[in-house]
Amino acid sequence: MRGLGTSLFFAFVAGATASSNGSYLADGYLDLGGASTAYEKAKAFISQLSNEEKSLIVNASSFNRNGASWSEYENTDGVSGLNFYYYVSAFPMGNAFTQTWNRDLAAAQFKAVGDEYKAVGYNLVDGALLGPLGRVPEGGRQNEAFSPDPYLSGVLSGEGVRAQNSAGVIAGIRHFLLYEQETNRSSMLGSSTSEVYSSNAADKTLHEVYMWPWADAIRSGAMAVMCSMNRVNGTHSCQNSDLLNDKLKSQLGFPGFVYPDESAQFSAYGSANAGLDYSPYSDGLWDWDSFSAGLKNGSLTQDRLDDMAVRTVLPYYFVGLEKENFTSASDDYTAYRDVRRNHSKIIRKVGGESLSLLKNDNGNGRGLPLNKPRSISLYGAHAGPGVVGPNHAWSVAGTDAEVYQGHLAQGGGSGQTSLPYLITPFNSLTNRAVEDGTAIWWIMNNTYTSSSSGMSVIGGSMGTGAEPSYSEYASASDVCLCFINSWSGEGADRSTLYNEEQDTMINKVASNCNNTIVVVNISGPRVLDAWIEHENVTAVIYGGLLGQESGNAIADVLYGDVNPSGKLIHTIAKNESDYPASVCETANCRFTEGVYVDYRWFDLKGIEPRYPFGHGLSYTSFEYSDVDVRVTNRSALAYKYPWGKLGLGGEADLFDEVAKVTASIENKGDVDGDEVAQLYLSFPKEAKQPIRILRGFEKVSIASGSSEKVGFKLRRRDLSYWDVAAQKWAVANGKYTFSIGASSRDLRGNATLTI
Ligand SMILES: *[C@@H]1O[C@H](CO)[C@@H](O)[C@H](O)[C@H]1NC(C)=O
Ligand SMILES: *[C@@H]1O[C@H](CO)[C@@H](O)[C@H](O)[C@H]1NC(C)=O
Ligand SMILES: *[C@@H]1O[C@H](CO)[C@@H](O)[C@H](O)[C@H]1NC(C)=O
Ligand SMILES: *[C@@H]1O[C@H](CO)[C@@H](O)[C@H](O)[C@H]1NC(C)=O
Ligand SMILES: *[C@@H]1O[C@H](CO)[C@@H](O)[C@H](O)[C@H]1NC(C)=O
Ligand SMILES: *[C@@H]1O[C@H](CO)[C@@H](O)[C@H](O)[C@H]1NC(C)=O
Ligand SMILES: *[C@@H]1O[C@H](CO)[C@@H](O)[C@H](O)[C@H]1NC(C)=O
Ligand SMILES: *[C@@H]1O[C@H](CO)[C@@H](O)[C@H](O)[C@H]1NC(C)=O
Ligand SMILES: *[C@@H]1O[C@H](CO)[C@@H](O)[C@H](O)[C@H]1NC(C)=O
Ligand SMILES: *[C@@H]1O[C@H](CO)[C@@H](O)[C@H](O)[C@H]1NC(C)=O
Ligand SMILES: *[C@@H]1O[C@H](CO)[C@@H](O)[C@H](O)[C@H]1NC(C)=O
Ligand SMILES: *[C@@H]1O[C@H](CO)[C@@H](O)[C@H](O)[C@H]1NC(C)=O
Repeated sequence: MRGLGTSLFFAFVAGATASSNGSYLADGYLDLGGASTAYEKAKAFISQLSNEEKSLIVNASSFNRNGASWSEYENTDGVSGLNFYYYVSAFPMGNAFTQTWNRDLAAAQFKAVGDEYKAVGYNLVDGALLGPLGRVPEGGRQNEAFSPDPYLSGVLSGEGVRAQNSAGVIAGIRHFLLYEQETNRSSMLGSSTSEVYSSNAADKTLHEVYMWPWADAIRSGAMAVMCSMNRVNGTHSCQNSDLLNDKLKSQLGFPGFVYPDESAQFSAYGSANAGLDYSPYSDGLWDWDSFSAGLKNGSLTQDRLDDMAVRTVLPYYFVGLEKENFTSASDDYTAYRDVRRNHSKIIRKVGGESLSLLKNDNGNGRGLPLNKPRSISLYGAHAGPGVVGPNHAWSVAGTDAEVYQGHLAQGGGSGQTSLPYLITPFNSLTNRAVEDGTAIWWIMNNTYTSSSSGMSVIGGSMGTGAEPSYSEYASASDVCLCFINSWSGEGADRSTLYNEEQDTMINKVASNCNNTIVVVNISGPRVLDAWIEHENVTAVIYGGLLGQESGNAIADVLYGDVNPSGKLIHTIAKNESDYPASVCETANCRFTEGVYVDYRWFDLKGIEPRYPFGHGLSYTSFEYSDVDVRVTNRSALAYKYPWGKLGLGGEADLFDEVAKVTASIENKGDVDGDEVAQLYLSFPKEAKQPIRILRGFEKVSIASGSSEKVGFKLRRRDLSYWDVAAQKWAVANGKYTFSIGASSRDLRGNATLTI
């Protein structure tokens, strides 16, 4: 007994210090594919360096000696553009561009953001947020993220990473993993009793939902991953070997460097051994004293230090940074640089394409699009500029303000980009009124009550007739436009998904105006039930936070210059309590809903949503037909588990196309339009999957009266489920049903395949 115990003990020590458990690039465990050349260059560069120089590379320092030099990476936050700087563009936030469901536009925006980083002097973008995914609808950073649907997030983040790397900057992706809320994310913000929360999710949930999009981003060349502030299974993410060595590097085949969020690194050797590679925020934990002591007494191995250094340098070669003379950013935030080029055009285009028309009752000359109305009235603080701006600093941590008193185009915290200007609806609609000869009234306040003395001065018998009140303006207008927003950002979650003041305002207007149109800009899901069924609410446009061209994008859609084509990226519930999860306030956050996030939960529980995931109308209508599926690679489907070599994103054959679904879509209306056709997959029982899950989407432009064919390519991975016992992706045996539709609840046809 004693002998056995001793040998186990030694085996453990050897495992902890001498073996890499298959996550060091030098082990050759990973087929680097397109990153092989960069790896060879990185290895050659590192091989000539001293250990002290390697330690400088990984602790984000620079050196310059005869023959070799290195400059630390320059990184700063921004999914949607740089923060702090003057003269840079403010792009639509993540929750806006995701609503376009347009791969090319997402790529165009990521490329343009990358170009601005480069031109200002940054070479590492603290970029796309794949986490939070969107488990918690109140999540404060949902405006920076993609969608609670892992497939949609994966496809768009992959496009984004590839495009941003092509600008010659390293596209960093964040935050690994299970960082789904702001509340209790850091012990510094709360009281001394607060603890950093731990997210605990089952293995199946972890793979099928939260890790899923990372595979696409890594496959597309993501070379920098930021680990998060929360704990997972009780261990801080940035020193969680299970997460970093095992899940990220070994299973997802990640070849680049892991770096910590600010204040997310808590140890020197614990984090280095768990898989943290590069740290601008080590606060002295990673200086040469600690590395040399660790190398001496075995707390850190030579192999691991070499792996850290190679992983840190590989991305530099991968995006081609050695081919240029990079000028790093100066601290002069106010200096003029011409970096914006035609980005305002991309911003306006993304904005217009991202809007979802949720409702449109356009009989009797009401609803949308507008056609030279004689009179318009605008309501709500969100219709025009706030009192100061455009870059009032929006730190939401510690405040309970969830409605911004002015037009909202950005989230708060580190995701807030720097607006060079802001077109509000008030600007764009006034310009339009000049062209059309329209009269405009406004009340840019959500709770305005007119005082009788003010009334007699402004209106009354001597004035212009209509008194400044919701009811007077509303009854005098052909069209009443209500603007509402919801505000959130890094550091705090929202407390509700609606706002009483705004809802009351809309009802007041609608009770006096039979053509009330609501424009909603949200940070995350917004419950609309206080007024959505009001007979006088004729249309609703719903979108994310759109950046500097916001008002122009609104006008483009309101007037029909852009035919709306955005589709919801989350479910809009009738009641807040219909969602499967909300903010967790305990030290351990159990993801008890499992894989049933967003629409998967509504389907499972048979809950009728107000508007389903994927919904969005157009000024025309589309008819679907001829849904068909065929296997394109039969031999690949003949085996259950992938056998390919581990490459970027996972086993290579997971990414092989195995089947193709096709359908025809006809534009039946009299205007041209774009449709986002969606493919939902129902698995055989064995796979234990939700009733249906998104596994494809195609956005097509279809001229009035014509038809287009759409094709959805399915990869082996798309037909697989995570087999917990085998710890592998598995293709299930049985019947797969492929449904094509205009939303997750508006399926227009299906086809089946038996494997
Ligand atoms: C991998 O190795 C590290 C340190 O070498 C060790 O702490 C960790 O437990 C190992 N992980 C697995 C999954 O074996
Ligand atoms: C989490 O945050 C809530 C609200 O701020 C607080 O009441 C609670 O004590 C915190 N929980 C922990 C475990 O820190
Ligand atoms: C956390 O623990 C659960 C339950 O033991 C396990 O299924 C899951 O894989 C663990 N998560 C990570 C990241 O290791
Ligand atoms: C990196 O290591 C060097 C050498 O020990 C040290 O002087 C420097 O302060 C460290 N930098 C950081 C950011 O810890
Ligand atoms: C190695 O030295 C460091 C620095 O003194 C110390 O923190 C660590 O605990 C030591 N490790 C071992 C295994 O002795
Ligand atoms: C970088 O600068 C050096 C020295 O000024 C110059 O010779 C070289 O051509 C430059 N390289 C590029 C890619 O601009
Ligand atoms: C912006 O300019 C780029 C490069 O000159 C061009 O490829 C792109 O089509 C332009 N985009 C728009 C929306 O005008
Ligand atoms: C809105 O109007 C109310 C009532 O007239 C007033 O008390 C409030 O200060 C106004 N809000 C803003 C942001 O101007
Ligand atoms: C709808 O608007 C008209 C005014 O056009 C008003 O008379 C009517 O009461 C409104 N309906 C409701 C339910 O408020
Ligand atoms: C809406 O109200 C206006 C008067 O404000 C009236 O002229 C029009 O007929 C009404 N339209 C409908 C469809 O009720
Ligand atoms: C608000 O959403 C509308 C559509 O719902 C969009 O046109 C507009 O640009 C958005 N504004 C902001 C500030 O995000
Ligand atoms: C597939 O379509 C058929 C007829 O179009 C319908 O009866 C059936 O319910 C659909 N099946 C699924 C799983 O959607």
